[in-house]
Order: sequence, then C-alpha cells, then structure tokens
Amino acid sequence: MIEPYAAVDLIRQKRDGGSLATEAIDWLISRYTSGYVGDEQMAAMAMAIFLNGMDRREILDLTTAMINSGERLDYSQLGRPTADKHSTGGVGDKITLPLMPLVASFGVAVPQLSGRGLGHTGGTLDKLESIPGWRADLGNEEMYRQLQELGGVICAAGAELAPADKKLYALRDITGTVEAIPLIASSIMSKKIAEGTGALVLDVKYGSGAFMRDLEKARELANTMVALGSDAGLNISALLTNMNVPLGLTIGNANEVRESVEVLAGGGPADVVELTCELAREMLALAGQPDVDVEAHLKGGQAMDVWRATVVAQGGDPDAKLPVAPESHEVRADRDGVLVSQDAYQFGVAAWRLGAGRARKQDPVVHSAGIDLAVKPGATIKAGDLLWTLHAEDASRFAGALESLSGAWEIADPGTVFEGAPLIAERITAK
Ligand code: URA
Repeated sequence: MIEPYAAVDLIRQKRDGGSLATEAIDWLISRYTSGYVGDEQMAAMAMAIFLNGMDRREILDLTTAMINSGERLDYSQLGRPTADKHSTGGVGDKITLPLMPLVASFGVAVPQLSGRGLGHTGGTLDKLESIPGWRADLGNEEMYRQLQELGGVICAAGAELAPADKKLYALRDITGTVEAIPLIASSIMSKKIAEGTGALVLDVKYGSGAFMRDLEKARELANTMVALGSDAGLNISALLTNMNVPLGLTIGNANEVRESVEVLAGGGPADVVELTCELAREMLALAGQPDVDVEAHLKGGQAMDVWRATVVAQGGDPDAKLPVAPESHEVRADRDGVLVSQDAYQFGVAAWRLGAGRARKQDPVVHSAGIDLAVKPGATIKAGDLLWTLHAEDASRFAGALESLSGAWEIADPGTVFEGAPLIAERITAK
C-alpha cells in the first residue's frame, strides 16, 4: 500500500511553524500506534509541537486521533448521567477518594479511571491499594456492573484506552517534551473522552507541587482542555487550585486513605472538605443537579455508604486496619512563631524518599510510608511543638527525606499576620 504521507514531511511542516491537516494528524497517530512511524520521528514531531504549538483545530484532531487509536466506552444504556473529575496532580491530593462516593450518592454515576503515581505526586490507585484486598484491575464488564449497581468505581484504565497516548507519553517522558500544552491537553482529554463520561470537571493545579508552577500556564492549560472537552460534546468546567501547600494533613498512601475516610465520616481537614465539596457541586451541576447540599451527604453518611459498598465490591475490607510503618521520626519547632510556608514540592519529594512514591514504573510503593502534618500555614507555634511526623519501613530513609525538607517551611515572628492564598483561585467554563 502506498502511504499518503511521509513522516519527515510532516515534521518539517511543523518545524517551520505550519499547521497539520486533519488527515495528516490522523495518519501520523495511527501509523505511530502500529509502529510504522518510529519513535525517533515521533520524538522530533513532539519537539516541533513543543516549540511551535498547535491551533485549536489541530489539538482537537490530535485528541480525536488518540481516542480512535483504542476503544471508547459507552454509558448511554446506564440509565443515569455520568460525571468524572481529573486532577493534574499534587501533593496530598486524595480528593478522588471522598469525591467519587459523594457524587455517586446523588445518583450520578462516576467512572473514575485512575493511574499510579510517578515522582513526587502520589497516584490514586497506590493509595487505595493500601486497603487489604482492594483490586484496581477490573474488566470493562465488571466496571460497568459496579457503576450500574453502586453508582461509582475507581479503577485502573485498561490497556485499550487511548493506546497512542500511552506510547507517546512514555516517549515524551524521555525526550523533554512533557510540558507542552497541546500535548498535555490532548493526552489527558483523549483518555477522559474515551472513558465515556458525559460531564467532566478538571482540577488544574498551580504552584510548587503542581505540574504547572505558575497560574498563567495553569489557566492556559485549563482553557485548552475545557475548549477541547466542549468541542467533543462534554459538559465541562475547570477549577484552578492552589498547590503551593500540601492538601490536607497527610502525604502518602495509607494515611491519605485514613484522612479520606475522616472526610466521609463528616470530619477531616477544612481544605480537603472544601475542595471535595466544591468539585462535587461542579460535577453534579454539569450532570443536571445544581444547588444540592453536598455537605449533608458527608454529615449524613450517604457518601460513606457508597464508599464502603465500592470498597467491598472491589475485594477490600473497609474495616481492615491500614498498614502502619514500624519507624517514625518527629520534626519539632525550634522557635516560637507563626508557620507561614510549607513547600508542597519539597514535602512531596520527602514523602517519595520515605518510600511512598516510585522512581520507576515497575517499582512498588510502601503503603505505610509518608508524612503526617500536625500543623498547616497560619498555625501559631511554640518552640518544641510537633510540626510533622515522618513514617518509613526503614529508618535509613529519614536522612534523605529530611534533606529534601531543608528550607521547606518558615516560622515567622510571633504575632505575624498570615494571609494564605485562596484554595480555589478561578473557575473556568466553556466559551
Ligand atoms: N497527565 C497525562 O495523562 N498526560 C500528560 O501529558 C500529563 C499529565
């Protein structure tokens, strides 16, 4: 068969600032997925896109081509609306755990296909796998049945969902081309659209612990993804949220599950509750239920009932004791004052060094490892007060973690007035 394009011509076209035709993008992605276009050519194309960008039509075409590289799930026969959330990832971000059952408790189905963590941000599946017996790998039929019967599921995305993205993302990871907005947006949105949800809320984080450090870039990414989702027919919005400080009081795996269960029981840290409730309201509004009292379903136990049922359905025991690390190390204040900063990135790296995260895809995580925070910015502190406790399986991990925490927080003079940035900076809707 005579190929209609040569990859090198398309690379030159993008390198010189041109715009790629719909059919050319389609051809490139399908031939890359099949192996006809090699990694070296796709790497050059990714760099050309990184340097010269893509227009809105090209990004939509790229997303569509990646969706078409695999299967597309369909919930039209489910008998209820569907809504999902995607977070661009942060430190202590356990929001999916209380959010899925909270939204599902209102009768909106939540098909939350999640991933494992790499680097300083944790993965939802890693956290849930702290629960003895809990299974992340469900087949499509099992997932559909759970959605139908219980209204929510958190599980691993199957290999057939946007396989082109899996291949391209691995390539970008090793060629310095991850941080390109057209590539990030098409990567995330191809998976979310293929997943088949009707409504989608994006939690786009900015700050030291986020993928996008500055608010401007996070806004641009959010606008691009919202436009893409809306062009693809999704009901979609985005919140830009602060990730300069870790979310909640736990960073790790088992400790984040414990904190999520506290939220589901009507308690938990104020920032985790605020973000969970705000995202739930967005999801429910996009799925046709505006103005619902989401807090009432945390206080009243309806969200907890869904949580327990979904944990059991996936082989877990919601009452099982979560793993506890044998070694711990306390960090205490060396002066009186007010805690005014707590750097999310450095705390994320410290938790990762304790064993809570992985350096390579194939590495296991230590479920009991992590950090419990006793205080957050704004707290008044006396010398000797507990600031945070590090947990690890092996005490030799503490030195590396403490090194990454060096300079990660600041205690200002007593009486300093602390004004933190709002957790939710902006809301972005389709134009
Ligand atoms: N997450 C993704 O799924 N893709 C990206 O490109 C970046 C983050």
